[in-house]
Amino acid sequence: MPALVLLGAQWGDEGKGKATDLLGGSVDYVVRYQGGNNAGHTVVVGDQKYALHLLPSGILSPGCTPVIGNGVVIDPSVLFSELNGLNERGVDTSKLLISGNAHIITPYNVTVDKVTERFLGKRKIGTTGRGIGPTYADKINRVGIRIQDLYDESILEQKVEAALDGKNQLLTKVFNRRAIEVGQVVEELLSYADRLKPYVADTVLVLNQALEDDKVVLFEGGQGTLLDIDHGTYPFVTSSNPTAGGACTGAGVGPTKISRVIGILKAYTTRVGSGPFPTELLDADGEALRRIGGERGVTTGRDRRCGWFDAVIARYATRVNGLTDFFLTKLDVLTGWEEIPVCVAYEIDGKRVEELPYSQTDFHHAKPIYENLPGWSEDITKAKSFSDLPKNAQDYVKALEEMSGAPISAIGVGPGRDETIEINSFL
Ligand code: GDP
Ligand code: IMO
Ligand code: MG
Repeated sequence: MPALVLLGAQWGDEGKGKATDLLGGSVDYVVRYQGGNNAGHTVVVGDQKYALHLLPSGILSPGCTPVIGNGVVIDPSVLFSELNGLNERGVDTSKLLISGNAHIITPYNVTVDKVTERFLGKRKIGTTGRGIGPTYADKINRVGIRIQDLYDESILEQKVEAALDGKNQLLTKVFNRRAIEVGQVVEELLSYADRLKPYVADTVLVLNQALEDDKVVLFEGGQGTLLDIDHGTYPFVTSSNPTAGGACTGAGVGPTKISRVIGILKAYTTRVGSGPFPTELLDADGEALRRIGGERGVTTGRDRRCGWFDAVIARYATRVNGLTDFFLTKLDVLTGWEEIPVCVAYEIDGKRVEELPYSQTDFHHAKPIYENLPGWSEDITKAKSFSDLPKNAQDYVKALEEMSGAPISAIGVGPGRDETIEINSFL
């Protein structure tokens, strides 16, 4: 009954798409359990590159059933354009299943996301502007619109009315914007109903039955541990739970069913948007990591902030997710540095601190304490086994493993499916 959770161990963009795709051929279901089209997962298959935002990366593996769970927020227009794009490239998307309980990102949620950010000015979160936060806020406020609501026009109308009541007050009186009309929103939402219908299913039942039948289920996280609403660098986070527990609530599968939790970990660190980032490099090294690593957002096209590897964060990710394994990605990007600094602890107000401080103020004051590890200059992109790596690259991996608290079971040495060193099998 293998059920694996695959999630980001840092601030997102660790290479989850590639890792999921790699396992896609050996799993029966790939399930997105939280987030929405704020995610940007890149998958490279041969000479083809795919950028997925909402669809689980398993959609590219023909034998695999892709599932969008109840914990995801869905913008139907984005979903359709993603499906169209894949269909045009010959990818069969007919097996997709969508939970009827998943919430819909409505046009007013997108508007509220954008005006709120503008209103926050220099205190902005730097969201992707896709309406993620306001949609989850409506869900928690119990005024959200779910996929199933599209199939009862009168209920849909009442719900949109309830959701817009307060929002229109806010838009007109605080944000100085025009009110949004209920009828227009209802009409737009209803226009999605027919095309969505064949995909809508009781995904909780489907997934639990699959597990009972010994099928292999992979839960693919969006974002990353430090962007988690509960465990991340709040308030500079996303509005869902990418951490392992989110897979249970966001898909309706009990924790006793999860057999393995794999943390995707970049060999250095990146972050998009605002918020603290102790190892951030604002110098030529940061620029070089960005250039060599191609660190530009898949969703918003923003440059990613880059910095050295932070072992304090990796240890934290191991703890809050109960990680059983790491998949270390982008080791190839570090080729060519004579020495590679790794953050082993922080200095906060003159004191050495080994673990992530729970206080936001302390984290903002954290200065990295570095250990310099010797680098390597040999091309590692063709390495197929751990022993193919130069000694210093092997030592870098071993040092990271020791500091991070879980075994590194795979190493990425390039964006392609086959540019991976498998150390322990995930299945
Ligand atoms: P995700 O959001 O976690 O799926 O990650 P993104 O797709 O946003 O960003 C990761 C980027 O790194 C993508 O462009 C991948 O193609 C690329 N990538 C993934 N693994 C590796 C690797 O091991 N080496 C290199 N050079 N690139 C990688
Ligand atoms: P993947 O799945 C990196 C960041 C945004 C912003 C914060 C809140 O590709 O790793 P939101 O729009 O979610 O309300 O924005 O979270 N963010 C991501 N950063 N990778 C992502 O996804 C992200 N999804 C959201 O930049 O700082
Ligand atoms: Mg991404």
